[in-house]
Formats: sequence, C-alpha cells, structure tokens
Amino acid sequence: MAPEITPEELVARVEAGEPLHILDIRAPEWLLSGRIDVVPEDRFHNIIGSSLQQAAAAGTIPLKTDEPLAVVCARGASSGPVADLLKHLGFEALSVAGGMQRWMHTLIQRELPATASLDRLIQFDRMGKGSLGYLLISDGEALVIDPPRKIDAILETAASEGAKIVGFAETHLHADYISGAPAGSNAMGVPYYLHSEDSFYPYDGTPGKISYESIEDGSVIEFGKTKVSVFHNPGHTLGSVSFLVDDEAAFTGDFVFIRSLGRPDLGGKVAEWTKLLWASLERMRAEWPESIICYPAHYSVDAERNPDKSIGKSLADITASSEPLQIREEDAFTEWVLTRQSSFPEVYKKIKAINVALLNPTEEEADEYDAGKNECAVG
Ligand SMILES: [Fe+2]
Repeated sequence: MAPEITPEELVARVEAGEPLHILDIRAPEWLLSGRIDVVPEDRFHNIIGSSLQQAAAAGTIPLKTDEPLAVVCARGASSGPVADLLKHLGFEALSVAGGMQRWMHTLIQRELPATASLDRLIQFDRMGKGSLGYLLISDGEALVIDPPRKIDAILETAASEGAKIVGFAETHLHADYISGAPAGSNAMGVPYYLHSEDSFYPYDGTPGKISYESIEDGSVIEFGKTKVSVFHNPGHTLGSVSFLVDDEAAFTGDFVFIRSLGRPDLGGKVAEWTKLLWASLERMRAEWPESIICYPAHYSVDAERNPDKSIGKSLADITASSEPLQIREEDAFTEWVLTRQSSFPEVYKKIKAINVALLNPTEEEADEYDAGKNECAVG
C-alpha cells in the first residue's frame, strides 16, 4: 500500500523545500473549481486516473521523476489505488488523505508576533481558498476573527492553549466563503460581532436572519486583558470594519490587502462604494500608526507571504509597495478601481445569502459553493 500524506504534512514538506510533485487525477474541468497550487507549475501534473491505469498497462506512463508524487483525487477514494499502482511501477507515490474535499477545508496554522495585551496570535491559512482567520488569546480567553465554515482546527488550538472562546468577530459579510462564525457563536453561546450594515442581503436589502451583536466605529470588544477597537471602513461592503489591537495589529478583512484592496464592486454600486473606500483609506492614513501590522482576510499570490510564510505587513511596508495605496488623489484612485473591474462568480450572491441565514444549503451544496480561490481583490 502506498502511504498517505495529510494536507498539513504536504504543506509542511513543500515549505521545508522538498521537491514534491502533485499528481491530480481528476478530470481537467474539476480543476477550474480549485487545485492544490503549492508547488511550481512544472511539479503539478493532471492526468485522469483511468488513463494512468491504461498507460500503466501499456507500459507508457507519461511521468518521469524520481521525486515524490502526492496523488490527489476528489475525496481521497481513488488516489490510494493509483498511488499503489505508481508505487509498483517504482515511483515514490503518496496518497493525499481526504482528497480535494479535505484540502479545501485544511487550515495551516502560523504563529504571529503577539502584541502587548495578547499572549498568542495565530493565523489560520486556508490555502485552498486564500483566506485567513485569526485566533487572539489573552489571559485564558480567545476571540476568533473571520473563521471559515469548518472551525474545528481553531477550536482545538484554543482548547490546547487552555483558552475559552468568548466571541466570534466578522470584518464583513463574506462573499467568497461561508463563514463559520454564526454557527460557532450559536453552538457556544457567545456573541457574534458584526456591523449592522452587513446584517442584510445587500442585493435587495432583505434583513438577515442571523442573531448578532452589533458593532460600529469606536466599539470596543474586551476579553482577557485586551481591548479590540472597531474601525469602520466601508467600501468593500457597507459594514466593513477592521479590528485594532494595541496599535500593533490591525485585522483588516477585505479593506487593505498586502498588494491590493478589497473590491468595491460586489454590491453593484461601484461608483458609490469606491467613494466610500477612498474616504476609509484617507481616514486610515490619518489615524493608524505606520508601524501597525495589517493582517488581511485574503491573499492572492505566494509573493505576498513573509519569509516564514505568514501573511501580514506593516502599514508603512504595504504603502510603499501597494499600487492603490500610492495613489494620493481621489480621481486617479477612482480611475484605478474602475479600470480594474472584473466579473465575480454568480455563487457569491448565494454565499452572501447563506452568511445572513437567508439560505440554508446542504453540506454538499455548501462544499460546492465554498470551493475555489477567492476573487475579493481589485485587479
Ligand atoms: Fe470579502
């Protein structure tokens, strides 16, 4: 039997510099809704499992490598037999446990520098989506920011640190993934913090059916020995906020990314929301210290990572390298945004409806809607 490799082990081995190859044995059209993209292009192969079996029978396997191959399928059922076959043929083959379904829910945990009032700060990197959630621990209490739908790994980490989760906080109503915050707060009987302007369905104004604790500009969420202050930065959504801790860390959601900004066109009012976004940026520049580290809810490319693979940079560093933040004149900024508009997946409308509890998908539907990379940045 070929050995299995978990998604977490796969990432650890690639990040340690091992020359691992990914062999995706799904039909090519499935790759459109996401694939494991942690290896360089020349180490990624897509060959359907059945054609590999035929090629093996004919002695013509179209793969030439003595480096390890991680075989991945949809759910982890067919990658094992294919990895076995390759192993018999002399390849060092591994089967990715749980397949793409598990990959899409895998969270890679990265420790970030703590702040004056936080004991631990942990980033949960959902590499399949390019989204980031956070666990903030202070004095035995913890706050979860922007969690994905599957929060088990976050809960386990909090428990292993002896920290009691006292709340879930959302930077905005997400469009690209189903949030785990409403369900998590319900199950644990703790508050779900959300700005009221993000509590309804943005396309027709229908009020959501979620129960939440309303936050607004200047609100403070206290836990342990820390105080998290809320900064309202509308633009990507009307109720977008950042969470600021100790003037050292800013959880910026889809406001400020490392290289871009959260797109202001998802609500169908791009001119109006671009104006709001500009005003939010101007206020941020006036009020935030340049040294504050911005931790966004998303990233798009590997180049946004720090050497330790975490995502987060000081406002000064982001300002120095981000194209939109270098623009200091509103008309030029508006033009920059408007010339970079792109379509967005139709499923985002469904996800927003789910996130305000106006739609209740089955587990299979949720997996289908929640698949693939985010498209939240301008550009
Ligand atoms: Fe977003």
